[in-house]
Amino acid sequence: MSREHNIAVIGGDGIGPEVTEVALDAAQAQAEKFGFTLNLTDFPQSGAHYLKTGEVLNDDTLEELKKYDAIYLGAVGHPDVKPGIIEKGLLLKLRFELDQYINLRPVKLYSGVETPLKDAGPEELDYVCVRENTGGLYSGVGGFNMKGSKDEVAIQSMVYNRTQVERCLRYAFELAASRPRKTLAMVGKTNVLTYVFDLWDRVFNELGEKEFPEVKREYYHVDAACMFMVKDPRRFDVMVTSNMFGDIVTDLGAETQGGMGMAASGNINPTKSTPSMFEPVHGSAPDIAGQNKANPIAAIMSARMMLEFLGEKEAADDLDKAIDTYTGSNSLTQSTSEAAEKFMAILKG
Ligand code: IPM
Ligand code: MN
Repeated sequence: MSREHNIAVIGGDGIGPEVTEVALDAAQAQAEKFGFTLNLTDFPQSGAHYLKTGEVLNDDTLEELKKYDAIYLGAVGHPDVKPGIIEKGLLLKLRFELDQYINLRPVKLYSGVETPLKDAGPEELDYVCVRENTGGLYSGVGGFNMKGSKDEVAIQSMVYNRTQVERCLRYAFELAASRPRKTLAMVGKTNVLTYVFDLWDRVFNELGEKEFPEVKREYYHVDAACMFMVKDPRRFDVMVTSNMFGDIVTDLGAETQGGMGMAASGNINPTKSTPSMFEPVHGSAPDIAGQNKANPIAAIMSARMMLEFLGEKEAADDLDKAIDTYTGSNSLTQSTSEAAEKFMAILKG
């Protein structure tokens, strides 16, 4: 296995570049400590770049990005750009075109982090959400009819084929099988979305029975899952769900682990035929951009996921320990630069 990793860096908008800088400093420190090489190449794609050039993500850049081992993305979204343009043209385009069909989002409470959950500590909150990342309501299937009239119709369909469902569930089963509790909870809405989640449910049970008999299967309707994520999160080990439900429940999950500044994600193509992309769950937060206020921890956690994905497990585990030491001894509301300084001291100490 090569220990030279080429990373495309899209710092993006708002606080994106600020937290990316800290996260990649931490990753570079691990490269030095554990003897591997990270070659970082910056890409300008962002809302700001679009306003300047009219370009979101062209085909040449997309092809160029495919040559990297991974992509690190800070955050994209600009207040002067109409909603949807950057989200669909950059972020979702990358997820779809690079077939990053898994969005992996750990929900883990680190030491000392305040949670809005009553009586919950790190023991009670340590699960992973596997969000399907290329289909469902995000497929973009739909349109308007009679637009602008009083009878206009808008349709946006939840579309899944069996291949998409099966490959996502297989990944989730494999992940669950690798964890001590070996429990996989599927989150759906079989009582209302009786076509799409019937398909999910059948594949879930067929696959589980045939290939993963050692994994305990559970099922939750999405509304009940939200309730238990607050009331009794200890029951979750690995959770798997559709794209839209995963988007929603992981913001709730993020809040339970201390807020959006504490939530990491990986957009993963498990086949490795194209690069995977790592990003904090939070957005570009234009209201605090440039004010040295952003919490860089989610970005650092996302860098940790990237190192693990690149095969640098030891470096990733060591980084994880440093995160836990940092959160255990520091307030999360300090300035970005102060947080960075204290974090790097722990990491290098
Ligand atoms: C996320 C974000 C994106 C999504 C947006 C920005 C398109 O909310 O990564 O969770 O909906 O997936
Ligand atoms: Mn989201």
